[in-house]
Amino acid sequence: MNNLGLQGKSAIVTGGASGIGGAVTKLFVERGARVVAVDLQQEAGEALVRELGDSVAFLRGDVSDPAVARAAVELAVERFGKLDVLVNNASASRQKPFEEQTDEDWDLAMNSSLYATRNFMLAALPELKKTGNASVINFGSGAGLDGQPNQASYAAAKEAIRGLSRVVANEWAPHNIRVNVVCPMALTAGVVQWSKARPEQYAQSAAKVPLGRFGDPDRDVAPIVAFLAGDDARYMTGQTVMADGGAIKLR
Ligand SMILES: NC(=O)c1ccc[n+]([C@@H]2O[C@H](COP(=O)([O-])OP(=O)(O)OC[C@H]3O[C@@H](n4cnc5c(N)ncnc54)[C@H](O)[C@@H]3O)[C@@H](O)[C@H]2O)c1
Repeated sequence: MNNLGLQGKSAIVTGGASGIGGAVTKLFVERGARVVAVDLQQEAGEALVRELGDSVAFLRGDVSDPAVARAAVELAVERFGKLDVLVNNASASRQKPFEEQTDEDWDLAMNSSLYATRNFMLAALPELKKTGNASVINFGSGAGLDGQPNQASYAAAKEAIRGLSRVVANEWAPHNIRVNVVCPMALTAGVVQWSKARPEQYAQSAAKVPLGRFGDPDRDVAPIVAFLAGDDARYMTGQTVMADGGAIKLR
C-alpha cells in the first residue's frame, strides 16, 4: 500500500526539477501531495510535469529573485488552493580557496541559498499561517558543519540558514509552522561534478560515511524530507536532521 502521509498537502520545492529537489518532488507526489517545483532548468521541469501530470506545476525562475518567491506562492494557491509545505532546497556555489573567492562567488552562494530561503519564507508566511499546520524544510550542509576546504561562501550561507531556521522555528511556533533543516549527502549530478573536480576530497568524504556510501536522492534523502513535511513530525521544530549515512553526529 502507498504511504499517503502527504495526502492533500500543497508544497513548494525550490530546485525541484533535478537532484535531491527532483527526488523530493517525485516522492511528495507519490505520497499524495501536489507540488510547485521552482527551478532554472526549463527542460527538466517540463519533463517532470510530463511524468507527474497535474500534481506538479513548474515555475522557471531564479530563487534569488523575491518576485519569483511571490510568484511561486501565488501559483501554489491558484493551482492547489493553499500552501502547507515549503522546501528550500535550491543552492548554487563555486568551490575555491577562501582567498580566491570573489564578491561574485559570495553573491552566488548567499543569494541562491540564504537570501532565497529568506525570500521564500517571507513570501510563504501568510499562506502557511492560514493552514494552521505547516512545515518549512531548509537545506544546510555538512560542508558548513565540518568546515570543508574550498567551501567558504557556501558553508557560510548554509550555517546562516541553520541559524535563521532556529530563530524562525521559535518565532513561528505559535502559528504551528515548524521549521527544520536537512543536511544531506547524496550522489546527485552536482556531486558527481564536484567529485571529478576534487577527487581527493570526494574520496575522503565517502570514506567518512559509516553506512559506506553517498546517499541515493530518492531512497535515502527524499523520505527524510517527506517525514519532516508530514504530520508524523508534528512535534519537531528547530532541528537539524543529518541525512548523511552517519557521517556527522550532532549533539
Ligand atoms: N548532494 C549532496 O551531497 C549535498 C550535500 C550537502 C548539502 N546539499 C544541499 O542539498 C540541496 C540539493 O543539492 P543537490 O545535490 O540536489 O544540488 P543540485 O545542484 O544537483 O541541484 C540543485 C537544483 O537547484 C537548481 N538551482 C540552482 N540554483 C538555482 C537558482 N538560483 N534558482 C532556481 N533553481 C536553482 C538547479 O537547477 C538544480 O535543479 C542543496 O541545498 C545543497 O546545497 C547537498
